[in-house]
Amino acid sequence: MIKKVVLVFTFLVTTLILNAQDKLIINTYNRPTTSLNGYWEYIVDPYENGYYNYRYEAFDKQENPQKGAFFLNSKSESKSDLVEYDFDKMDSILVPSDWNTQKENLFYYEGTLWYKKSFDYKLDKTSNRLFVYFEASNYKTEVYFNGKKLGVHVGGFTPFNYEITSLLKENDNFLIVKVDNKRIKEGVPTLLTDWWNYGGITRDVKLIETSNTFVQDYFIQLKPKDSNKISGYITLNGENAPQKNVQISIPELNINRSFKTNNTGKLSFEIDAKTISYWSMEKPHLYDVTIMTDLDTVTDQIGFRSIQTKGKQILLNNKPIFLKGISIHEESPIHDGRGWNKEDAKQILNWAKELGCNYVRLAHYPHNEHMLRLADKMGILVWEENPVYWTISWENENTFLNAKNQLSEVIDRDKNRASVIIWSMANETPTSDARNNFLKKLASFTKEKDPTRLISAALEQSDYKDDKFTRTISDPFADVVDILSFNQYIGWYDGLPEKCSKISWNIQQDKPVIISEFGAGAKYGLHGDKSERWTEEFQEHLYIETLKMIDNIEQLQGVSPWILVDFRSPRRILPEIQDGWNRKGLISEDGLKKKAFFVLQEYYNNK
Ligand code: GCU
Repeated sequence: MIKKVVLVFTFLVTTLILNAQDKLIINTYNRPTTSLNGYWEYIVDPYENGYYNYRYEAFDKQENPQKGAFFLNSKSESKSDLVEYDFDKMDSILVPSDWNTQKENLFYYEGTLWYKKSFDYKLDKTSNRLFVYFEASNYKTEVYFNGKKLGVHVGGFTPFNYEITSLLKENDNFLIVKVDNKRIKEGVPTLLTDWWNYGGITRDVKLIETSNTFVQDYFIQLKPKDSNKISGYITLNGENAPQKNVQISIPELNINRSFKTNNTGKLSFEIDAKTISYWSMEKPHLYDVTIMTDLDTVTDQIGFRSIQTKGKQILLNNKPIFLKGISIHEESPIHDGRGWNKEDAKQILNWAKELGCNYVRLAHYPHNEHMLRLADKMGILVWEENPVYWTISWENENTFLNAKNQLSEVIDRDKNRASVIIWSMANETPTSDARNNFLKKLASFTKEKDPTRLISAALEQSDYKDDKFTRTISDPFADVVDILSFNQYIGWYDGLPEKCSKISWNIQQDKPVIISEFGAGAKYGLHGDKSERWTEEFQEHLYIETLKMIDNIEQLQGVSPWILVDFRSPRRILPEIQDGWNRKGLISEDGLKKKAFFVLQEYYNNK
């Protein structure tokens, strides 16, 4: 009996330890890593047969999981043995990449798919540690290593990592990952979206070897409201983290300072810096910042700038700016499906630059880190968005914690990126007390975690005092955000383009305004009269009329039309026109520019 109690206790403690998702290791781009990208074996498992027994009991909750559990990578041990799966005899699939566009029979698949990757790894466990890091996996991901559960991650667009030091063998390690992209009502996003539900391990997977105590996290920015100081914090991870000497050096600013961590392994700092070349769109200067301890050194490229609002203005380094933007979904312009690599990011941001943009709205979820690091280098400002989209389950506490966690993870990942100036809480969410409370809690969490950036959301707009031709922003969340943003589709969903000239805007709040979306669908190459919907001429006409209308909005400080490139959506099915694509792009999925592209380009070039 005692033996059983000890066994159960050990199992529970091990599970607790392993399931506690490790705090994010940031800046993996500048650390020594081993990529696990490439072909992984996979099993499609719509009935989650590898996860539950026939009584719907989860194998990984069992003290001794049955052989049918896929995460055990079971093999028949004799001719009479019963094992009804074998990863090694399965087909393989590329990681990273969504499964939908890799396998025709998975194009619409929404469910569970298991991945397996085997590898050898030699680690000196006396001095070093090993982590497995996922840049993203959509939507619910359960990770197992050498038959043990590491943890569960929920959310399709943010990174997570687990320590595998204690479970690592020198040879024949197997990493098994269960990814389930089923849409669920209490999810973030929820059941309905206007984009493709790409499933799978959609971004890089890598092993990160660290010393026993290493630099895990840091926030290094210009001190809010004092542009002659650099401040922030550094967190070490490991048994020697407390009371540790840490050096911060920024050679170009002749900064080389030492600090000591407190008893929790964390330190806060403030450094005078009088000769900073502030990061700007024209001069996106990045400094090499090195953080060093006796065991670990990590370098990042960080731009120093301030961003704030003053009445109706947005100020970058105390100068008013107008955000000449475009909205972007994370689809590759080069291959089909989710974008994830540097080439995808380069093409997308080069198109934005060609359009005359100094700003992009990364809709409707965090994009891959290449986008942010490239925006830093190119001097492009960024709106990053949490996938709190449309009809979220506002009353569900777990839904709120999920939304908060995803926001926390993207802030952890990108808080040192100068290009990121706005955290968006939500998109087009119907107002209610529960929704207002949900968003207010998200906003206060964000402000506390990152006081250096602005908060916004695509708010609801409405008629002003029942006047059908005067619009205003009546959304209660407008009192919380720093920037008032809203999507408006006058001329597409609301009347025809001629209606734009009849509309005036009466926005009461003394805050900057961004129009976060407007647009019209057009099939590339379809031409006709400007009154004919779906022609390039109609879209061009709507852009001309809308740009004239919004120029009359006194507080307007930015716009990000919907959208740079046509994108896949299962909701857009009009034969010969949409065929599964949302056609509001200024560029077709084949990279061909429509006439409206040049209307917006001229508007920005003359702005
Ligand atoms: C909405 C929404 C987008 C959607 C767009 C459209 O504003 O924010 O996600 O794709 O309209 O209808 O095309």
